[in-house]
Amino acid sequence: MTQLREELSPHVGLTADGERVRILDQSLLPNREVYLELSGLAEMVEAIRALRVRGAPAIGIFAGYGVYVLARQLPRTGGARENLAALCLRAGELSAARPTAVNLAWAVGRMLDRARREAGGGWPAVVSALEEECLAIHREDIAMCRAIAEHGLSLVRDGDGVLTHCNAGPLATSRYGTALGPILLGQERGVRLKVFADETRPLLQGARLTAYELNRAGVDVTLICDNMASMVMKNGWVQACFVGCDRVAANGDAANKIGTSGVAILARHYGIPFYVLGPTSTIDLNCPTGNDIPIEERDPEEIRTLWYKEPMAPAGVRCFNPAFDVTDHSLIAGIVTEKGICRPPYTQSLAALFSE
Ligand code: MRU
Repeated sequence: MTQLREELSPHVGLTADGERVRILDQSLLPNREVYLELSGLAEMVEAIRALRVRGAPAIGIFAGYGVYVLARQLPRTGGARENLAALCLRAGELSAARPTAVNLAWAVGRMLDRARREAGGGWPAVVSALEEECLAIHREDIAMCRAIAEHGLSLVRDGDGVLTHCNAGPLATSRYGTALGPILLGQERGVRLKVFADETRPLLQGARLTAYELNRAGVDVTLICDNMASMVMKNGWVQACFVGCDRVAANGDAANKIGTSGVAILARHYGIPFYVLGPTSTIDLNCPTGNDIPIEERDPEEIRTLWYKEPMAPAGVRCFNPAFDVTDHSLIAGIVTEKGICRPPYTQSLAALFSE
């Protein structure tokens, strides 16, 4: 297993002794590359809430490792039933750390299902099965990102301009990423895309993370403020929009970083196809429409004071700071998954992904 761990992506994984989850602290990028090693439930929850680890698939991978690390801390000789009850309680807190990205609850649920299936064999057997499961979640994500990248690349041509919002690159997943996957794969194959990265207020994932990842990969990337997207589209510089997703409802409505739905509305106005890219673990058929997706609201200080030398709004002014919005399915030209590209009507094409 140790060798397998080393093959997986470096920004989220286990320490060599398997006792802690190791992450690159994304909240400090691009200026500082600091790795954290976490073993306590409270620090894992804090890491998710503070976006030290972020992006729907990466949060799921992290949670898988987290459940494994927490399971190791329970008495090896303890009764499997008692340990399982204790693990469920802790895993429940981890799962509730952020509400919108379904991958978090999905990964925790998958780990607990495996633990329940193995409980008859005693706790050491559960722990070793959980190690296998969290590594499988990570490995599968790498394969899914690669497949998404292939499908996404079929939607664009050499020299095209692509606009993206937030960060759905390797940091948010593993290896290729989702929305950035076709861009990075294209770069490897000599298909050069010109990327416009929205800076993505208020937490600047586009400026801090997308620009950082694409720059390092040698991609032609131009950073723009969110309110410049319309002009860039009007100038004819964008042939497709690629964005990630945190949860896709059964009808194709897609939750992603706040501001995404505005990009989709602009793209419709300018006749530019708008694509959502994500693994099937982000599709939640239990949510009939986007209205059923819980939207996280965050601290107003992210708008008022964060990043500024001094506050940029009057003290105490009311702020509204939703972290995500929902893009209506009618604005989406295609939902690109590892199994292929779903087209409208999404109620049918998304359901078909799960009936194969
Ligand atoms: O608040 P964040 O930074 O976790 O939001 C991330 C996004 O909205 C991403 O676009 C989404 O999770 C997809 S990541 C492949």
